[in-house]
Amino acid sequence: MKRQTHYVSGEELASKLNITRQALWKHVSTLQQKGYQIAAVPHLGYKLINSPNKLYPWDIQYNLNTKFIGKKIYHYETTESTQDIGWQLGFKKLPEGTLIVSEIQRKGRGRLRRNWASPKGGLYLSLLLKPTFITPNRISQIILLSGLSCIHAIKEGTGIECSLKWPNDIFLDNKKVGGILCELNAESDRVNFVVVGIGININIDQKTLPPKTSSLGIEKNSKINRVKLLKAILENIEKYYISLKNGGFSSIRQEWEKFCFILGKRVKVKIQLKEIEGQAEGIDKMGRLILRKNMTHIEKIFSGDVVKVNFN
Ligand code: BTN
Repeated sequence: MKRQTHYVSGEELASKLNITRQALWKHVSTLQQKGYQIAAVPHLGYKLINSPNKLYPWDIQYNLNTKFIGKKIYHYETTESTQDIGWQLGFKKLPEGTLIVSEIQRKGRGRLRRNWASPKGGLYLSLLLKPTFITPNRISQIILLSGLSCIHAIKEGTGIECSLKWPNDIFLDNKKVGGILCELNAESDRVNFVVVGIGININIDQKTLPPKTSSLGIEKNSKINRVKLLKAILENIEKYYISLKNGGFSSIRQEWEKFCFILGKRVKVKIQLKEIEGQAEGIDKMGRLILRKNMTHIEKIFSGDVVKVNFN
C-alpha cells in the first residue's frame, strides 16, 4: 500500500471498490487495527499516512511481477517454522508458488538441524515448488538458484552486494546474513514437492543475533523495506526457476560461481563426521562442489559444510 500525499474522498473510494460508504468505513477500521495509519477527515476523505512494517499478503501482491509465485500467500504473526506449514500445504497439494511468511518463528530451523534465530525484523519465508522436471539428485540446483536469486534481490532492494558460500549461505563482509534450506519430498526417481525456506537477517540488532552473523540493516545503518525485498526475491526466484526449467542449469551455474567467494580458495569441508581439505574449484552440472585434493584427485561433494576458508 502506497503512502499518499492527498486525501481521497470516501465517495470516490467506495465507488472504485464498488462497495457502500459504510462497508468502506469498516474496511478502513480493520486496516487501522492492523496498524495502518489512515487519516479520516470529514468532507476531505481518507489519507494513508503510514503502513505497518508487516509482510501482509496484499502489500506483497501489489504490483508483484510473477506468473505463479506468491499468488497464494499465508501470513503469520508467529509460527513454529514456516517450513512445517510448507510441508503440510505440499501434502494438501496446494499450487506451486504458494508462499508462507511469518514475522517471527519460535522454532526456526537451519540446515543440519541447526536452530535459526528468527526474531522480529527478519524475513522468514517458505515457498512451495514442484520441480518435477528435475530428478531428486539435482535438488542442489534449486538451493543454488534460490541463493543467486536472493543476492540479486538484495542488491535490487537495498543496494547491498552480498556473496554466496556453497551450498546455501548468504554472506556480507565475512558474516552470514542469510541462509537457504531446501526440504524435499520425493520418490526414488521423482520429485513431488520442495519447500524452499529462506531466512534473511534484515532489521535486527547485533545483540539479538548469533555470533559471526550480521544483518542487512546493520550494514546499511538504516531500516530496510522488507516487503520490497521479498517481492524482489519472489520475482528473481521465478525468473531463475523458469530459466532452469526451459534452459537447464548451465547459465545459472556460471553466474552462481561468479558470486561464490570460496572458489579458488583452500577450504575444509565437513561431511557428516569426516573432514576433507582441498581447493574449491567450482560446482558441477548437478550442483555439487568440485574440490581438488591434489594434482590428480578431485572430489565432488553433494552435501556438506564449509567450515574453514583460506587457512594454513
Ligand atoms: C541455514 O542457513 O541453515 C538455512 C536457514 C533457513 C531458515 C529459514 S527461515 C524460513 C524457513 N523456516 C525455517 O524454519 N527455516 C527456513
